[in-house]
Amino acid sequence: MEIFIDTAIIDEIKEAASYGLVDGVTTNPSLAAKAGKNYVETLKEISQIVDGPISAEVVSEKAEDMVKEAEKYTAISKNIAIKVPMTLEGMKAVRMFKEKGIMTNVTLVFSANQALLAAKAGATFVSPFVGRLDDIGHTGMELIEEIVQIYDNYGFETKVLVASVRHPEHVKEAALLGADVCTVPYKVLMQMAKHALTDVGIKKFLADWEKVPK
Ligand code: G3P
Repeated sequence: MEIFIDTAIIDEIKEAASYGLVDGVTTNPSLAAKAGKNYVETLKEISQIVDGPISAEVVSEKAEDMVKEAEKYTAISKNIAIKVPMTLEGMKAVRMFKEKGIMTNVTLVFSANQALLAAKAGATFVSPFVGRLDDIGHTGMELIEEIVQIYDNYGFETKVLVASVRHPEHVKEAALLGADVCTVPYKVLMQMAKHALTDVGIKKFLADWEKVPK
């Protein structure tokens, strides 16, 4: 499973990339607001750090406007994937981007039927939001299971990108279900590497090493 980092904060991306653990980056308007920097400049910086796909989100509502708005992002680098909302206009835009050879990531997906339409439109990635489904009392991961099954049934090439990840269990479940990509906040990436017994074990090995004649 590929791991993308879900942030627009350059320092987080740099650090995660320094460990060789980042296959791509996802951003959205909320993450861009949190980063507090010019969006185009931020995307340019990210493209200097990461070779894999970088999702840049459009905010236009009409397909033609989405395509126009995306020009300033696609001009940055070949690895920019345009994130479009899961609307009918978004689906129209996905097809238009596909004809231009531009990658797309259909975002704000909350049902299997939405994911089916995104795949039929030719999306490169589909982003089901598991955390937000959990927030309203659903089980986000059930949606991932359904989408993986549907895409397998028909051989769709659209990659299932698990988004709105809140904790390492989401990542593990995504991997068990065979999702193609999981995009994780920086904090979750750090948590994934941690285990209390690893820390205890390192401490013990270090203490014992002191006793080894050298
Ligand atoms: O990739 C989409 C993700 O950033 C949304 O996460 O936590 O705002 O639901 P969240």
